[in-house]
Amino acid sequence: MDVLEAIRERKSFRRFKEDPVPWDLVQQVLEAARMAPSWHNKQGWYFLVLTGENKNLLADCTYETNPARNAFMQAPVSLVLCGDPTQSGSYDGKEYYMVDVACAMENLMLAAIEKGLGTCCVAGMLNEELIRKYFNIPENIRVVAVTPLGYPSYQPKPRPRKPLNEVAFLNGWGNGIEHKLTDSGLWISTE
Ligand SMILES: Cc1cc2nc3c(=O)[nH]c(=O)nc-3n(C[C@H](O)[C@H](O)[C@H](O)COP(=O)(O)O)c2cc1C
Repeated sequence: MDVLEAIRERKSFRRFKEDPVPWDLVQQVLEAARMAPSWHNKQGWYFLVLTGENKNLLADCTYETNPARNAFMQAPVSLVLCGDPTQSGSYDGKEYYMVDVACAMENLMLAAIEKGLGTCCVAGMLNEELIRKYFNIPENIRVVAVTPLGYPSYQPKPRPRKPLNEVAFLNGWGNGIEHKLTDSGLWISTE
């Protein structure tokens, strides 16, 4: 699978088989995360791997209204992606640890799909304090996002995306790019 195919195939998977994930694959997706770009190459990220009963604890830390909650109980592995704001930088009100960890998460998700594994980037509706407490995460470390990791038990429908000409401009904000777009360059419909 090439990288563009992986990008197309990645979706948020929220239901999983019980089948175990070979450790070698867990390691490979972590390696992909570790290769992500980061602010000044500070790599102020930490990846916590949860297996067994610990995944249920993570589900405990996920609000009941979060559609991904059950995924943490089903998938054999869950990953907690953390950032250290003091290792990464901030400038002009932008906290780069968030960007660093987001890049790591995307790498991880693409590597996972290439290995036939599903993920779901979950960054909201989490009780960060409780996650810290259960897994002894230091006070100065932020839990940025978590994901289940496992073999999906279904194929989710692709979620729609805004049309490219709504979000991409040419040489200045708001300048239409329509005349540059070709059918062959478009991957997805907006339906
Ligand atoms: C910052 C961020 C936070 C997210 N938080 C959650 C979440 O709390 N629960 C959940 O089920 N999905 C969450 N998602 C997944 C999005 O709902 C999903 O990416 C989006 O609907 C597009 O669907 P797709 O990933 O299948 O393409 C989150 C995604 C991002 C990038």
